[in-house]
Amino acid sequence: MIDREYRIQAWNRKRETGMQGVSREEAIGRTIFEILHRQPPEMLRREFDDVFTTGRIQEYQMESLATGELRTYRITKIPMRLGDSAVTHVITIGEDVTDWKEAQQRFAQAEKLAAIGQLAAGVMHEINNPLATIAACAESLGFKLEDVKKAGSAIPADANEYLQIIDNEVSRCKQIVDGLLDFSRPKQALKERVSLNEVIERTLLLLKHHVRFKKLTVIPEFDADLARVPQANGEQLVQVFMALLLNAMDAVGDRGTITVRTRRGTNAEEGVVAEVVDQGHGIARSELSKIFEPFYTTKAPGRGTGLGLSICYGIIQEHGGRIEVDSALGQGSTFRVLLPTVEHR
Ligand SMILES: Nc1ncnc2c1ncn2[C@@H]1O[C@H](COP(=O)(O)OP(=O)(O)OP(=O)(O)O)[C@@H](O)[C@H]1O
Ligand SMILES: [Mg+2]
Repeated sequence: MIDREYRIQAWNRKRETGMQGVSREEAIGRTIFEILHRQPPEMLRREFDDVFTTGRIQEYQMESLATGELRTYRITKIPMRLGDSAVTHVITIGEDVTDWKEAQQRFAQAEKLAAIGQLAAGVMHEINNPLATIAACAESLGFKLEDVKKAGSAIPADANEYLQIIDNEVSRCKQIVDGLLDFSRPKQALKERVSLNEVIERTLLLLKHHVRFKKLTVIPEFDADLARVPQANGEQLVQVFMALLLNAMDAVGDRGTITVRTRRGTNAEEGVVAEVVDQGHGIARSELSKIFEPFYTTKAPGRGTGLGLSICYGIIQEHGGRIEVDSALGQGSTFRVLLPTVEHR
């Protein structure tokens, strides 16, 4: 609490602890500018004057790296009147709202993705039928051409090639449609007791033959005593780790290192945790909220569709789990899959 001269009049015990802590003896009687010397004095003065002159509570959020990691604080400045009219003191409260904010963002993200999923499912439904028609028409045209040829007539030189192109392009569309459907409502596949370690080992085995993957160093750090996931589909989980590992491969370039780790979670809902850690190019903070959206890609056309992570999201969601990411531009990314060790539905 400070007075009109910006002198600290009260300082609570909590503010004495931690790396940024200042003892009460040191703080009381000094001005806020002396104690919070890391912050620009004009800014501090402006913030307090706002409350002194308007008499209204001010609330805002700020981010700080003071503890070594990025945390978000909600700062509330409350006017206090000892007499009857003018504000005589201002009380400042700083709350660490990082976890709360993360939960909010997670919730907003889930809602957004659910909306996109619904839209996608609708569009895909509309596109599936015309695609099937195109494929069928191309096929019967092919048969007709055969007949014409058998009857001894000449057929246009490019005709078969064009039909082949139609066929290929239709398959490509179908792949995208199937991918999107995996995101918006993954197939209700058979669920059984699955070992996460085995799933990842299987994925690594499949990737062993990949030309680019072969050059990478993969460091497995498995918790051998990991509980099994009681209701899971191994194939779908392999698909998830395949997508995560391929992304990590793209991020680290040709000769990087990827760590794949499994460990015990903190509670039954997050019973087992798998992390794919790379030291690749990382993801800018402004992009982090988009990477799970279908078709979000930063890769060259033809290199990525932007469906990988959205499919992962859909599958993990369907498993009653959660997928998280920590990333810093230029430093690398950690993708974390949390799965329940209790039956979830
Ligand atoms: N490990 C990672 N490191 C850095 N960026 C990543 C990583 N994983 C994903 N991204 C970013 O997220 C985007 C979306 O990933 P996603 O897997 O959904 O699509 P994609 O890899 O671009 O294409 P697709 O997986 O369909 O082939 C990527 O284009 C990339 O920008
Ligand atoms: Mg991908």
